[in-house]
Amino acid sequence: MRISKGRCLEPWVIGLITCVSLIAMSVCIGLTVHYVRYNQRNTYNYYSTLPFTSDKLYAEFGREASKNFTEMSHRIESMVKNAFSGFPLQGELVKAHIIKFSEENGGVLAHMLLIFRIRSTEDPGNVNKIIEYTLHEKLRDVSGSLQVERDSVEIKKINKTETDKYFNDCCGTRRSKSSNESLRIVGGTKVEEGEWPWQASLQWDDAHRCGAVVISNTWLLSAAHCFRIHKDANRWTASFGITIYPPTMKTGIQRIIVHEKYHYPSHEYDIALLELAKPIVYTNEVHRVCLPDANHEFQPGQELFVTGFGVQHKHGYLQNRLWQVQVELIDTKTCNQPEVYNGAITPTMLCAGSLEGKRDSCQGDSGGPLVGSDARDVWYLAGIVSWGDNCALPNKPGVYARVTALRDWITEHCGI
Ligand code: ARG
Repeated sequence: MRISKGRCLEPWVIGLITCVSLIAMSVCIGLTVHYVRYNQRNTYNYYSTLPFTSDKLYAEFGREASKNFTEMSHRIESMVKNAFSGFPLQGELVKAHIIKFSEENGGVLAHMLLIFRIRSTEDPGNVNKIIEYTLHEKLRDVSGSLQVERDSVEIKKINKTETDKYFNDCCGTRRSKSSNESLRIVGGTKVEEGEWPWQASLQWDDAHRCGAVVISNTWLLSAAHCFRIHKDANRWTASFGITIYPPTMKTGIQRIIVHEKYHYPSHEYDIALLELAKPIVYTNEVHRVCLPDANHEFQPGQELFVTGFGVQHKHGYLQNRLWQVQVELIDTKTCNQPEVYNGAITPTMLCAGSLEGKRDSCQGDSGGPLVGSDARDVWYLAGIVSWGDNCALPNKPGVYARVTALRDWITEHCGI
């Protein structure tokens, strides 16, 4: 049959074009799928136990958050990270974190969480084998004073829920935001869920009055001056999470212990312990900060963060959403200079902020945490928001209760 051609293309040309386009499209789709799959990573979580001997006795480093615990953990974590540096798989070890040490017939066991991100194209069975091989063959301590019994290192694959639980039971761990570029409480930025999980809000008759800090599942720390007039524990509640309404968790207060040496109007010993009416259950969003040893040293100039629901300037409003601001630790000598606080800073206080002003805590933040991290990215409580001359003024940094100076008082009253 003859068809009038007009200006149309020959049917075989149309066929060819369709074919070529189809092939091109499938190649594109194929490449994209391959690329996506190739770059997709799976998380592998492990619980590992490493028996070892060292120059130190278990009693010297067994206590969580102590200086020796941190040093020993750091040493073992670095050793493990080094072992995985030439990792033969397409992926990496993203975290090696000691959660505790235990004593094991004469020796010591380090309990560690290992988190890997590995290309989804790798065979899971092979991944397990290579990780096990690496731990058995590649662990080496550079200093030489630490001997890991490599053959007895054990690893067990665990799921995300178990991993989270182990992390949340450790003090001072947090889900950090990818960028920390922040930062403007006064001059700060809003906080994401899980970033500062130890922050609590204290409410008197349901109205926020002060901040507080989770130090165990039954105890909070806050500022003594919050309870100067409002003493009845029954009318206080503590809420947790990054918003006051609705809170992630809420519980009553059973007992308030104000430092015996706190005497208004002096700001000395501005610290109080609160016992919760019922223990909280730790989650990714709510868990405890580490308390530093009495001899823990935060360095002047060190980057610290303060968080709170307080006002954003002297005549502003309280916030429903938690805010954070980065401040610097200011040494007492500088802080006591005539143009700063002229000798008002005593050994139970600590200054932090910025001498140029602009970054500070303010009204409503009292009782809340000032924290700093160590080399393992574990967070310690350096101070508790206490007082300041106005907020964020030049030469008038925030003043905090100095936790290291009050550390023994905390242990005496709650055993932590
Ligand atoms: N006393 C205030 C409160 O009860 C905290 C003031 C902190 N001031 C400062 N400039 N950092 O909330």
